[in-house]
Amino acid sequence: MTYKVMGITAGRKNSNSEILLKEALMACEEAGAQITMVNLSDYTILDCTGCTACTMAMSQGKNAGCVLDKKDDKKRIMDVMLDQDAVIYSAPTYDLQPCALFTRFCQRSLAYETSFLEAIGAIERRARLAGLIAVGGSTRAWQSMALESMQAAMFTTDMKVVDMILATRVPGNGQCVLNDELIARAHKMGENIMTAIQTPVEDRHWLGDEDMGWCPNCHSNALVLGEPQWDGVSYEVECQVCGCGGTLEKVDGKWKFVIDPVNGRLKDRTTVEGRQLHLDEIGYTQGAMFYANPENMKLAQQKKQKYIDKKYPAV
Ligand SMILES: Cc1cc2nc3c(=O)[nH]c(=O)nc-3n(C[C@H](O)[C@H](O)[C@H](O)COP(=O)(O)O)c2cc1C
Repeated sequence: MTYKVMGITAGRKNSNSEILLKEALMACEEAGAQITMVNLSDYTILDCTGCTACTMAMSQGKNAGCVLDKKDDKKRIMDVMLDQDAVIYSAPTYDLQPCALFTRFCQRSLAYETSFLEAIGAIERRARLAGLIAVGGSTRAWQSMALESMQAAMFTTDMKVVDMILATRVPGNGQCVLNDELIARAHKMGENIMTAIQTPVEDRHWLGDEDMGWCPNCHSNALVLGEPQWDGVSYEVECQVCGCGGTLEKVDGKWKFVIDPVNGRLKDRTTVEGRQLHLDEIGYTQGAMFYANPENMKLAQQKKQKYIDKKYPAV
């Protein structure tokens, strides 16, 4: 069986993100995978307009696509991307996070919410895998939200992340080629992806560096103090990426994030069930409280007028 692996990068042409991605893809190719690769800078990707036409249609069980489908290259890429066994993404870090091109591409994925498209039979049901490579000039100190933001972009298309690399201290064009260890690690990512592809879906698990990150669920490095959520659920500490909740405990002199064994995984955004709870939240907060309540709609329209009438000089 030939597996399909795609590479998507948002880095400079022939530079670090693209090189590390190609190294990972070469390992997949060596293992017999069919490879496709795009550098997003070769394509036109427009910003999501926030029109919500896609999600409005979804709530009625219909696939409206995206209003920008014919205006740029997003759909062309998605048609191939959603037909893959695995996708490896790489992006440069700008201002601690992935660059805008990567984010713009991913934030256009709402119209391609895979669990919905699969449920209505618009696309083939697949267990998709992902590997993430964030590239930066600094150490983690200046890439503190890079991988975490890339992880956050995986939920909509239900990509199971099995490996991540934070490629640090490679600011110059193509500088990563001087770091043999980093190149070898990128190759290993390709091997890990192929191992995961050939593992039964229910047994697929994290293959990246064992001690990576604070969160034992998604391996992110981002924890926040919990606050009561819309449905009353509250945790002392939450993973900012996957939403698992728990507390910090000191084990053998080291702080550890321990997920609450009872309900700590309730909001796990890496699962369809966890994300469904967020759809319930939207249904309540936006749907029942606002759009479905004529009194609230009328009141908001009245109160908005003051802001619509107020004009300031622009530049
Ligand atoms: C606008 C801009 C902002 C950047 N911000 C960061 C940053 O916050 N942290 C960091 O580690 N590197 C930062 N860098 C460096 C790039 O991440 C680095 O040059 C990287 O190698 C680019 O990847 P590429 O070679 O694949 O294009 C920044 C570069 C630019 C152009």
